[in-house]
Amino acid sequence: MNKTAPPYSRILQGDFSESALAAMLCSTSRSELERLYAGAYQLKLKHRGPHVYFRGLIEISNICKKNCLYCGIRSGNRNVIRYELTDEQVLEEARFALHAGYGSVVLQGGERTDRGFTDRITRLLKEIKGLRKEGSDFSLGITLSLGEQTPQVYRDWYQAGATRYLLRVEASNRALYEKIHPGGAEKELHAYENRVQGIRDLKEAGFRVGTGVMIGLPFQTPEDLARDLLFFKEMQVDMVGMGPYIPHGETPLGKLYRTTVNEDSGALFCLPDHRKLDISLNMVALLRHLMPHINIAATTALQVLAPDGRERALMAGANIIMPNITDVSAKGNYNLYEGKPGLQDDAAATKYQLEKNLEKLGIPVGWDEWGDKICIFVQNS
Ligand code: 5AD
Ligand code: SF4
Repeated sequence: MNKTAPPYSRILQGDFSESALAAMLCSTSRSELERLYAGAYQLKLKHRGPHVYFRGLIEISNICKKNCLYCGIRSGNRNVIRYELTDEQVLEEARFALHAGYGSVVLQGGERTDRGFTDRITRLLKEIKGLRKEGSDFSLGITLSLGEQTPQVYRDWYQAGATRYLLRVEASNRALYEKIHPGGAEKELHAYENRVQGIRDLKEAGFRVGTGVMIGLPFQTPEDLARDLLFFKEMQVDMVGMGPYIPHGETPLGKLYRTTVNEDSGALFCLPDHRKLDISLNMVALLRHLMPHINIAATTALQVLAPDGRERALMAGANIIMPNITDVSAKGNYNLYEGKPGLQDDAAATKYQLEKNLEKLGIPVGWDEWGDKICIFVQNS
């Protein structure tokens, strides 16, 4: 392949080598980027249709046994008010999603593996699957995002009605993964191989699996990001959610950011927000070229870099949005990063705003659908 050709021409010729992907990721040519985004949007239209699908996000708890160096709700952060939604709160939010036409929900929370917790999730799944709108047989699709579990727990949760699972690999490069997770006595709990094995175990249990990475991490290079894209392809995942890394002041990486940020260094970590946003959108658009059929989320963290960050990701090939439907009383404590948007907005206000923004862009919403090819209408039992 011609390595001196403009980066998007290489992509169009099917050159998905690490060097071609990295060159496109780093491009600052507005015309090249516009061509990349327009191409990704066309591929999305062709392979996934015009719709965006909503998955209502319920942040069930910020209690976590892990201590990831980037995350605001890590176990080592004592300045967090820990909470756990009650069963009734979770069901109320799921009912909201059902009646709002969202079609599916995501239960997300910190990682816990105790039996009390895993059994409670199994119970909740069955209850959510039992919810119906009057006169309809449609039941909500359920995605889980509850960290690493044993193969048996994955099977139990699948049996109880969840069909999708999000387990971000966070960084597919093992050395980078280890730099952003604790070592020493906590190393075992944060082992890279368990993360990757988790993705395999989930597939084995029957789940449609989503993964993803953070973009702009300390120590991360454009080549790492290029290899992340190739990792998604190699793992044949069904969904990817990736967003910019946003420093949180009460974490080791957030403190590192404060003390070392130097915009002249050229490191991804130190780039200004608008460049981090471009690179995040480039990742979305390149992934749509590499894996045209999959689901790609326009993630909330994009909104921290620009108010219309998620909508721009939809115009660059993403097809999923996860509107937050967590009760306002709790969601302020689910702070993975600083500057989380929409903390004062309740689920109805969030829906209203999103609908307005999408209407302006002419993007239709796939109401009352799971947003995949196995949209099953089950009988009331
Ligand atoms: N910035 C951006 N994303 C973060 N996550 C955790 N901490 C941060 C941060 N500081 C992401 C991780 C995790 C997901 C739930 O949130 O990728 O998998
Ligand atoms: Fe826990 Fe997930 Fe945060 Fe890690 S990223 S500390 S596993 S909530």
